Amino acid sequence: MRVLGLLLFFGLNVVLATQPPCVLLNDGNKMPMIALGTGRGTAKETDTLDDVRNAVFWAIEAGYRHIDTAAVYGDEEQVGQGIADAIAKGIVTRDQLFITTKLWNDKHARDQVVPALKESLSRLGLEYVDLFLIHFPIATKEDGSPDNIDYLDTWKGMEEAKQLGLTTSIGVSNFNISQIDRLLANSNVPPAVNEFEVNPTLTQEPLVYHCMSHNIAVMAYSPFGFLVSRNRPDAPPPKYDDPIIGAIAAKYGKSPGQVVLRFAIERGLVPIPKSTNQKRIAENINVFDFELSAEEIAAIASFNKNVRVIEIDGWKDYPNYPF
Ligand SMILES: NC(=O)c1ccc[n+]([C@@H]2O[C@H](COP(=O)([O-])OP(=O)(O)OC[C@H]3O[C@@H](n4cnc5c(N)ncnc54)[C@H](OP(=O)(O)O)[C@@H]3O)[C@@H](O)[C@H]2O)c1
Repeated sequence: MRVLGLLLFFGLNVVLATQPPCVLLNDGNKMPMIALGTGRGTAKETDTLDDVRNAVFWAIEAGYRHIDTAAVYGDEEQVGQGIADAIAKGIVTRDQLFITTKLWNDKHARDQVVPALKESLSRLGLEYVDLFLIHFPIATKEDGSPDNIDYLDTWKGMEEAKQLGLTTSIGVSNFNISQIDRLLANSNVPPAVNEFEVNPTLTQEPLVYHCMSHNIAVMAYSPFGFLVSRNRPDAPPPKYDDPIIGAIAAKYGKSPGQVVLRFAIERGLVPIPKSTNQKRIAENINVFDFELSAEEIAAIASFNKNVRVIEIDGWKDYPNYPF
């Protein structure tokens, strides 16, 4: 403690947080087991893009090494600024970070993939990302109407991006079991990751099992499910004040949010909690010092209702609709 006190006294950068464990991907790269979400879906009207810059900086300061963004979030520039701030302050070096971004639906033609990634890199201010994902298996035109591009063609562009060193790993998001199988059967490089919604009301056992049995890591988006407000009066439990989650949280001296994140981690998933609040950002990474019992995991899993936070009903009639 005395040494620590001295270091703090002299104003040296001491990263107090221990760093999260990593998942070994099928291409040999290591992916930190929790990522800061930077999607804008839950942003309040008063939130600004500068909040994203701060959130990314606070997250790295708190020990996060993985940031999840996407071209369609419109915040890659602020994510890049937060990263640059943290590097400038000497908290991390670029190679200690794992940055994920995603290809939007209107850039699915094979020859659009590398230019789209280059644009993301220029907004992020980076020379490479660690993971580039096809955001959805659905292709659209620029006006949002459906396009008939096969995601197998898009994947060829993803393989080219990896070959060029613009991304170290490639993967997909929102792909279902048959889409994963078709991709595996028709690609040179298998996807390293599938990112999709997983939380207590959408546990996704079959898809999680399928990905893991093919050595594809799973990133879990919207990990809090309906524990946090989604402005949905019909939202199923568990809510934040749920007594079952509350009892587990009390037992370990944790919050309901931490219990739900730990639930994902116990399943071998990489949760992506989004927050722009400094206190909650720190809270959400403080989930590596306790374990849930098999009974507690089963109790949380029994909330499953196959109800999604993220609905994309408007795309139901589009080719390759995955849900
Ligand atoms: N690939 C895809 O298609 C896809 C789709 C959706 C999301 N994602 C990714 O996944 C990330 C997370 O998903 P999400 O944003 O839908 O949902 P989420 O992380 O499950 O929930 C975010 C909400 O929870 C609040 N919150 C955060 N920590 C909390 C805590 N400890 N206690 C109570 N409330 C807390 C946040 O508010 P504050 O900010 O005020 O803390 C925000 O309102 C996104 O940001 C994005 O990166 C990917």
